Amino acid sequence: MPIDIKNIKKQFEKSMNDYDKNAVVQDMMASKLVIELEKVSSCFDNIFELGSGTGLLTKRLVKSIKSKNYYANDLVEKSKLYVQKYVPNVQFIAGNALKVKPGKKMDLIVSNAMFQWFENFGKAVDILKAGLNSGGILAFSTFSPMNFKEITSLTGLSLKYKSQDELVEILKISGFEILYCETFYEEISFKTPLELLAHMKHTGVNSLSEKTWTVKKVKEFCDKYLKQYPSAKLTYSPIIIIARYM
Ligand SMILES: C[S@@+](CC[C@H](N)C(=O)[O-])C[C@H]1O[C@@H](n2cnc3c(N)ncnc32)[C@H](O)[C@@H]1O
Repeated sequence: MPIDIKNIKKQFEKSMNDYDKNAVVQDMMASKLVIELEKVSSCFDNIFELGSGTGLLTKRLVKSIKSKNYYANDLVEKSKLYVQKYVPNVQFIAGNALKVKPGKKMDLIVSNAMFQWFENFGKAVDILKAGLNSGGILAFSTFSPMNFKEITSLTGLSLKYKSQDELVEILKISGFEILYCETFYEEISFKTPLELLAHMKHTGVNSLSEKTWTVKKVKEFCDKYLKQYPSAKLTYSPIIIIARYM
């Protein structure tokens, strides 16, 4: 499915008020990312956070990792207000993470639950490494091809997720040393498939499809879901990677 940046921005902007209550897996990913990153270093002069959203990662990161300059970015301008709660002097740059230019090289580029929206991971890595100092760290979480497997099997809708091995291979070819990688699974249960759809909407994942679902389509999805699965559940499959640019 081609990535539509305008649609991603629209869906995340709409979901921001409900995001933190619903993004339990994304919060878990942020926590794991910070725990592992702290083992690499607890201090970076220049940090650039990509896709900062409502600041779930920012909140955890600044508790454990010190920096001199904190830059943050998101497609959604409003993200700045959330990040400022945790980093009052943040230098926020709105726009596509692969196009914005903070004006200096970074010691850490970090991102939680965002890289799955990159159309071409290899190209993204090449752009990001150009913004890293030698020895700089790229630390991110994303999702594996098993993510939302229930939705993919019922609708055919999915992002072009890459496996941990594929991501690692691309990073190594690009000149990165892998310091940490992990894939894990989290299943969330809901009372009904309708609740499951609401959960996805509140975490901005409606951007999987450019069209708003009609009432008929929602009903069809719920009926189909209950025929195929005994109860409403959604499988998340996050990947955490920390790599050093040599
Ligand atoms: C799932 S949310 C994660 C937010 C936050 N990092 C967290 O830990 O909860 C993904 C965020 O990435 C942003 N995003 C998606 N694609 C982007 C891009 N190409 N450039 C900048 N931000 C992007 C979205 O607007 C959204 O706020």
